[in-house]
Amino acid sequence: ILSSSSSSSSSPPSPVVLTQDELKKIAAYKAVEYVESGMVLGLGTGSTAKHAVARIGELLRQGKLKNIVGIPTSKITHEQALAAGIPLSDLDSHPVLDLAIDGADEVDPFLNLVKGRGGSLLREKMVEGACKKFVVIVDESKLVKHLGGSGLAMPVEIVPFCWKFTAQRLQSLFADAGCVAKLRTFAESDKPFVTDNGNFIVDLYFKKDIGDLKAASDAILQLAGVVEHGMFLDMATTVIIAGELGVTCRVR
Ligand code: 5RP
Repeated sequence: ILSSSSSSSSSPPSPVVLTQDELKKIAAYKAVEYVESGMVLGLGTGSTAKHAVARIGELLRQGKLKNIVGIPTSKITHEQALAAGIPLSDLDSHPVLDLAIDGADEVDPFLNLVKGRGGSLLREKMVEGACKKFVVIVDESKLVKHLGGSGLAMPVEIVPFCWKFTAQRLQSLFADAGCVAKLRTFAESDKPFVTDNGNFIVDLYFKKDIGDLKAASDAILQLAGVVEHGMFLDMATTVIIAGELGVTCRVR
């Protein structure tokens, strides 16, 4: 992405390196172009999705969008959307949504995702699983070859009851992939992070490829004590990627 504003007629334009947050905003604004008046919208959570929520609020205030209903995927997005003036509802009243816009932690070449490093994976999966279209917005740092291969967390939401037992079972499930399961805690204390649903999160770290994602998903969900995991398989319909060379769009 080149800047034209700072260049003189004799010198070439100087390249501008955009911050990660600027790239997130570019992807978010592009996704909001898919929003039409009258839609029921899933509102994602995180530092990328917040730009989309803010933009939808702005377009509503300007009268460029009308009759939008938002279904937030977390308490924090609920607060942000309320403050932005977006009328809100829930899945009980709107079981089918037109479109959801949300960020992701990892995107593989088949548009499978890891989500939940912000801790909202359960509500995100419920809302985004009820949408006709799910537009994912990321900067290019989120692209991976294999889910779980970035060395970063694969989140699993579990019930607090005997969490060590469940964490141990999750770790054993992926022993061949060198899995280490860690309870998510606040950086400033050893207190467990508690989700909007009153649950804990165990982050799985893999040393090797976890192989068949569908098999991994099924195995995790079969464990009593597990509520949901952060693999979003076959859910994204469009992924918008903002990078230094511009915006690209991948469609399923
Ligand atoms: C929250 C999420 C977020 O969408 C994901 O963590 C990406 O966040 P960010 O846009 O801040 O990078 O899944 O549960």
